[in-house]
Amino acid sequence: MDNFTLFNPTKILFGKGQLECMQQEIPAGAKVLILYGGGSVKRTGLLDRVKIALTSFDTVEFGGIEPNPEYETLMKAATLVRAEKFNFLLAVGGGSVIDGTKFIAAAAPFKGADPWMIPSQRAPISEAIPFGTVLTLPATGSEMNCGAVITRRSACMKLGFSSTLLYPRFSVLDPEFTFTLPERQTGNGIVDTFVHVTEQYLTYPDDALIQDRWAEGLLLTLIQEGPKALKSPQDYHARANLMWASTLALNGYIGAGVPLDGASHKIGHAITALYGIDHARTLAPVLPALLTVMKDEKRAKLLQYARRVWCLDCADEDAAIDEGILRTSAFFESVGVPVHLSAYHLGTEVVGRVLENLTRTGMTAIGENGTITPDKIEKILNIAL
Ligand code: NZQ
Ligand code: ZN
Repeated sequence: MDNFTLFNPTKILFGKGQLECMQQEIPAGAKVLILYGGGSVKRTGLLDRVKIALTSFDTVEFGGIEPNPEYETLMKAATLVRAEKFNFLLAVGGGSVIDGTKFIAAAAPFKGADPWMIPSQRAPISEAIPFGTVLTLPATGSEMNCGAVITRRSACMKLGFSSTLLYPRFSVLDPEFTFTLPERQTGNGIVDTFVHVTEQYLTYPDDALIQDRWAEGLLLTLIQEGPKALKSPQDYHARANLMWASTLALNGYIGAGVPLDGASHKIGHAITALYGIDHARTLAPVLPALLTVMKDEKRAKLLQYARRVWCLDCADEDAAIDEGILRTSAFFESVGVPVHLSAYHLGTEVVGRVLENLTRTGMTAIGENGTITPDKIEKILNIAL
């Protein structure tokens, strides 16, 4: 295990009724911009509850942040924040609204020529508007991390950025807010969380025993609780465990001091940039294909995964590894997320286009060892078809 510095200032307000405690976390007299997505929070009544919880503040709403949040929309909000001098932001939604809010928080006070430089040139963020979140979709972990991903469809680019200034001040995690999720989004959240864990776990052994056991605990929880939430959307305990799993999967704990892969996400982001497919639905075909292609480099951890997560007999190592990968695919399918790109109406043309996109954004030596090069990406995409 390498040296690490772990810093996570986000305060978590977990459970029923925590929304009403949120006001204590916002500075008195703050002028608050409430940000939300395409309208689910209006339909579920959550937006009204948020407004009631914030009656002691001056609030304005900004809706319409898309899934895979769009730079142009976010810039409209950033311009509003600057013009009207909002000094606190509240994201109410899933990863897209939270990531969009992170960009707005950084873009509004940005002094450079164009805030697009933040994701495209890694322009440093020296200032950010403080913000909190009310999570409605457990998946991305954005509610307790300082990273974000935004999209510029006109340039076919989906790019990430991060800054320690972009941790939410607080996040309200009430599992009841996820009762209204459509099956598709529940399944997406389970798969996204699963892949976040495997990208920090299925690398090579590094004597990080606690991170390994944490990772395995999160995977086993997803396998056990995911189907329950799909069968009974109002199962509070299943929803609560899924919510906490997704937050812990990407808040820095299981990744502290260990090798990190990240390649499935990079390939997935290119697919979304080109075809607009849901984030998790790009990962479900790519991860199993990547594990197959990288089987030799990841051998020791794939065996550990087969043994501890899928309880497989590993006397025949190759058979156990292959079965572990097959079970992964079968699990994704069982939560309603197809594992072939063809299921999303993509054909062989995807291979060249994704390779071109990754080359353009400098992603040509990815994975924990930097060994996932274009030839391997091509193999991965061909298997993923
Ligand atoms: O937009 P509304 O109308 O609110 O509907 C949303 C949206 O259509 C709906 N939804 C959310 N909560 C709901 C609900 N519908 C009913 N009831 C609820 N309680 O779900 C749809 C998808 O929402 P979205 O926020 O796009 O999904 P998700 O949370 O999966 O976020 C995906 C985005 O996060 C990025 C992805 O790349 C993608 O852009 N990620 C962010 C990360 C981070 N910041 O650390 C890491 C991840 O790997 C990921 O890259
Ligand atoms: Zn993800």
